[in-house]
Amino acid sequence: MENMIEMRGICKSYQMGEEELPVLKDISLTVGKGEFLAILGPSGSGKSTLMNIIGCMDRCDQGEYFLDGNAIHQCSEKQLTDVRNREIGFIFQKYYLIPRYTVMQNITMPLLIRGMGHREAEKKCEETIEMLGLSQRVGHRPSELSGGQQQRVAIARALVGEPAILLADEPTGALDRATGLEVLDLFEKLNAMGNTIVMITHDLQVASHAHRVVKIVDGQLFDSDGQLPV
Ligand SMILES: Nc1ncnc2c1ncn2[C@@H]1O[C@H](COP(=O)(O)OP(=O)(O)OP(=O)(O)O)[C@@H](O)[C@H]1O
Ligand SMILES: [Mg+2]
Repeated sequence: MENMIEMRGICKSYQMGEEELPVLKDISLTVGKGEFLAILGPSGSGKSTLMNIIGCMDRCDQGEYFLDGNAIHQCSEKQLTDVRNREIGFIFQKYYLIPRYTVMQNITMPLLIRGMGHREAEKKCEETIEMLGLSQRVGHRPSELSGGQQQRVAIARALVGEPAILLADEPTGALDRATGLEVLDLFEKLNAMGNTIVMITHDLQVASHAHRVVKIVDGQLFDSDGQLPV
C-alpha cells in the first residue's frame, strides 16, 4: 500500500513566557492510502496540535512530514495554503459553516475558492449532496438544520474538492449518540469508497469505528496495545 502520510520525528512546543512547553514529542506515524485511522487520546494530550500539523494549518518545530509524497516541512506559506485547499477535507466538532450562506453556498465554497463558476460548482456537488441526503435542504441556512444535518453539510463541503485525505477532529462531539453513529456509518461508507480518513477523538467507542487506532498520551504516540511507539 502506498503511503498518504509519513511523519518522522515530529516535535512541537509552545512558548509560554520564558518556558517552552513540549506538546508533541518525537512523533512518527505512517498512514496508508485508503486507511481509516483513529487517533485516540485524553484532553490536552496533543490531538488538535497534531491535527493542525497534519492539516497543514501549523508547522512542526522538528521532523519530516510527507503528505501524498509532498515534503510539507519544506513548503512555503503559499504552498501550504494551496495544499490545504486541494489535499485536505476538514471536519470539525463545531462544523464551522458560514451562517448567512445557504447549504448549497457552503458546500460549493471550496470549489469557488479554486475559481470554478457557480453553475459548474453546483453541478459538481449534486452527487455528493444526494449521497448525504441533503437534496431537500440546499436552500436552508445552517441555523435551520439539525446538528446531524449541519455535520453532513460540513462533510459534503469537505468532500467536494476531492481531497487526498479527510481529517476529522471530534466529528461526533456535538451530536447525540444515534446521530453520531450515523456520521460514523457515513465515514465507513466513504472509506469503503476509497477515501483516506484520519479521525481524532477522546472516545474509545467512536475510535472503534476506525480500522486502526493509535493512542496519543502526553504528546507521545503508541499503537493500539499501548506499548510500542508507532
Ligand atoms: N496556542 C497554544 N499556546 C500554548 N499552549 C497550547 C496552545 N495550543 C495548545 N496548547 C497546549 O498544548 C497541549 C495540547 O493541546 P491540544 O489542543 O493539542 O490538546 P487536545 O488533545 O486536542 O485536547 P482536547 O481533547 O481537550 O481538545 C495542552 O496542554 C495545551 O494547553
Ligand atoms: Mg482538541
